[in-house]
Amino acid sequence: MKYPKEYLDEIKTRLKVSTVVSKTVKLKKRGKEFVGLSPFKTEKTPSFTVNDEKEFYHCFSTSEHGNIFDFVMKTQSLKFGEAVKMLSSLAGMQPYTFSKQDEERESKWKLYKSICRNFSDFYKNELFKNENSIKAKNYLKERGLSGIDVKNFNLGFVTQDIDYYEILKKDFDESTIKETGLFYFDEKRKKHISRFRNRIIFPINNISGNIIGFGGRIINESKNSAKYINSPETLFFKKGLNLYNLDKARKLSNKLEDVYLVEGYMDVIGLSKNGIENTVANLGTALTSKQIQILNQFFNHIIICFDGDQSGYKAAIRAAENIIDELKPDKKISFLLLENNLDPDNYVNKFGKDKFLEISEQKSKPIHKFIFEHYISLTTESPSSKAIFEKKLREIASNIKDSFVKKYTLEYFLEKVSELTPNINSKFSKIYMNSPKSLAKTKNYYNETKSLKSFEIKEFSFLYILLAKSRLIYENFHLIENVKLYSDENKQLFAEILNQSQNLLNLDVQKLNVDKNLVNRVMNYASVKHIISKNLNDDHKILEIFTEIIQDLKSYELEQRISELESKFSQDMSETTFNKIKELKKQQKIN
Ligand code: UTP
Ligand code: MN
Repeated sequence: MKYPKEYLDEIKTRLKVSTVVSKTVKLKKRGKEFVGLSPFKTEKTPSFTVNDEKEFYHCFSTSEHGNIFDFVMKTQSLKFGEAVKMLSSLAGMQPYTFSKQDEERESKWKLYKSICRNFSDFYKNELFKNENSIKAKNYLKERGLSGIDVKNFNLGFVTQDIDYYEILKKDFDESTIKETGLFYFDEKRKKHISRFRNRIIFPINNISGNIIGFGGRIINESKNSAKYINSPETLFFKKGLNLYNLDKARKLSNKLEDVYLVEGYMDVIGLSKNGIENTVANLGTALTSKQIQILNQFFNHIIICFDGDQSGYKAAIRAAENIIDELKPDKKISFLLLENNLDPDNYVNKFGKDKFLEISEQKSKPIHKFIFEHYISLTTESPSSKAIFEKKLREIASNIKDSFVKKYTLEYFLEKVSELTPNINSKFSKIYMNSPKSLAKTKNYYNETKSLKSFEIKEFSFLYILLAKSRLIYENFHLIENVKLYSDENKQLFAEILNQSQNLLNLDVQKLNVDKNLVNRVMNYASVKHIISKNLNDDHKILEIFTEIIQDLKSYELEQRISELESKFSQDMSETTFNKIKELKKQQKIN
């Protein structure tokens, strides 16, 4: 029994050699190839290489060499048929069983793809040759497409004057033609009519590059007909399992980490002709998990960039909720929202490739952040609204299949939710609660100095004591080791104080080489100044207050480090970052 060549080719197309090999061998990228320790021999220096472009592996120490089928046969002692079964399942394909149905399907497929191909070739030619295509040609020109762009995407125009059904009938069965969905039967006229008549057609290929369906756009806007139509679902055209332009875009995955997922055919063409060819579109239906799985076979980062209008935003949110369950630790999904109602095609034509890549770099939001921000924008102050919000986020996170990512996403959501209840958890209240004594005394001053940040006022108090009691602090110098200030001005003043006074041994405030205003600010706003001047000779008391201030500054520093790590985590979702955050939070509790 022989597997159809096309079936085996599709497995190879869907699975990179590095994907298959890395299930058992740890690989490292080196230039265009991957290297690792040979699975065929015990070794210390890697002599095993994988080349995705050439679709083979090679072991320099044993001369073993082959494709993905050879690899699993050799490393797992499988027969060819078993290797095919295993790999087709890894590729997300139906098993090929040599049943009667499979064989029938195979012969149907040969006819189906031949009809689609003929149809496409015929109308490609019509677009250039038929004089009734003038309007279509002008339309494409107006949209900025050159002849080369039209050829690259094999666009065609379905002229009205030819009965292509009759032409096909000479070579194919009517039932076979019917299965392609290219025609429908008009009961009134008792005639088979081309579904795409008077439309520009965009052939849609499967992953191996065979045409399986079409999209069609009208050239005269009209209320009566849909702007775009697509082939109906057929035996071989399943919208949720395919993506427009995937056959071309996947070839770039050996060079690029990212893929853009857009809404429309014209977005794909617009980005591609501007040099961004790692672009695919879903086919006028909701995005499916399966489509994400397919893209993940090739790319590490999926950037979803729908139209910058209300309906694009809605589609993006719907997509985010549909696909978040597919998040994997080593894969990223982001959303790029365009402004001013622009779609990717408009945007890239207006601003160019570099600008598009730049905003993509700067503005793409990781999926969990996008979802969070959406739901928070719908939430009001009321407790019930907040409850619904939290419940929704928990539900979304709980759908994630990967247990690690599920855990982290849930943590991320809950952290963010807790920040919404400021009386319990805001940054300011943490400092406030850690230091009931000092703050009770500084409350009035806090009101005066609202525009200053709470940590700045703390820093003023810290500097104030240094200035007022330099000798005492000099004798307790260990207290200020490892103290970190955040405001630039205060940092500068702190450094100058230490420098001018030889670490506080001989301080002369008059001689400080800084803007006098910096010193004045400290004198005016340090909330501790009254209590210090009242207890100027009570060293014990002053050290107690000073220690408290330092505690507060340190917890502020911890806060800062945690929040930096949290934003890093929201980007990289890495376990290391997560563990660092945990560690710092533990410290925070101890302090
Ligand atoms: P858009 O209307 O945003 O497409 O629909 P576009 O590419 O920006 O259109 P033009 O040509 O620039 O005006 C995006 C996608 O949604 C599907 C199509 O797949 C289209 O490419 N669609 C849209 C439909 O299926 N039917 C419609 O009536 C409209
Ligand atoms: Mn659009």
